[in-house]
Amino acid sequence: MGRFTSLPQYLGDWVRQDPARSDIAETVLLIASAAIEIAELIGEGPLAGDLGAVVRSNRDGDAQKSLDVRANELVLRALRGSPVAIVGSEENEDAVVLSAEAPLAVALDPLDGSSNIDTNVPTGTIFSICHVEKQGKNATAASLLKKGAEQLAAGFAIYGPHTSLVLTVRQGVQIFVLDRKSAEFMLARADVQIPQSTQEYAINASNYRYWDKPVRAYVDDCIAGENRPGDSNFNMRWIGSLVAEAYRILARGGIFLYPGDARPGYKMGRLRLVYEANPIALLIEEAGGAATDGARRILDIEPPALHSRVPFVFGSSDHVARITRYHTEIRFDNDESPLFGQRGLFQR
Ligand code: F6P
Repeated sequence: MGRFTSLPQYLGDWVRQDPARSDIAETVLLIASAAIEIAELIGEGPLAGDLGAVVRSNRDGDAQKSLDVRANELVLRALRGSPVAIVGSEENEDAVVLSAEAPLAVALDPLDGSSNIDTNVPTGTIFSICHVEKQGKNATAASLLKKGAEQLAAGFAIYGPHTSLVLTVRQGVQIFVLDRKSAEFMLARADVQIPQSTQEYAINASNYRYWDKPVRAYVDDCIAGENRPGDSNFNMRWIGSLVAEAYRILARGGIFLYPGDARPGYKMGRLRLVYEANPIALLIEEAGGAATDGARRILDIEPPALHSRVPFVFGSSDHVARITRYHTEIRFDNDESPLFGQRGLFQR
């Protein structure tokens, strides 16, 4: 046996504890195999063709890039003939039924962060696995609209300087790194824990003028840093790639915000509940962090539809709680300083 535990070994041990888990393990391994193919394609960059070329746009006007489409095909192909009945993918308007009798449903963002394809910045494949409901008409499609708390497993592959698979089978978070020689994912970080507090925040600050008052107030406080009594200085990061942001927060803590804002079409933010926020929220909670829409726990939200968006805040639990207090306990009658003092009441 080598120095590192491989993904099949890790999942094999997990299945030995309960053989009913074998379908989930098989599904994770198939998604991991598709991720290796996607990683190879991304590793070739422009030598593999114009991966960033816009081929069409979806109903919401999001551009679909060549690599989005190819990544979607690779994962769907890997899942054919597997224990997966239905796949809800960002790249398909309607859920794709693979084999109606199979026991599992997969929600998928085949290529998150695709606006970064041409910039050599990390992108990723996000997935969520649930049981299929067998009862009632359209039960199979309804399986994709369960609360995130019902996920059986979730994770993402990230195509960065190294390719990693970040996984939870609801026993903590494990990070596997792709060993390119053996083409296998190896366990590199076990039982990842997010520090409770942080001095690092991530938000697309160009949208400042569109945010609501609680979000502005929180970011103002971060910018004020130690000028605010009792606070410390903050550092800001924004990669524009959810998987890269989530990976950094799992690795060293921090907080991420993509709130709803006043731009047309952004009332519920940008990120999708079923195949982006839910799987990331499960990973973050399994690593000791928190994930909300600013007030409600993400994993308790009933998804209205497969492609619904949700405001998304996640990371170190102290700061997620602080943003919740800004949304639920403080009145923001105006933007000026009297309420600044009130916010102090709710400081960490
Ligand atoms: O899901 C799409 C996505 O690319 C995320 O990976 C990222 O967090 C976000 O959009 C970036 O959005 P914006 O371009 O508005 O900063």
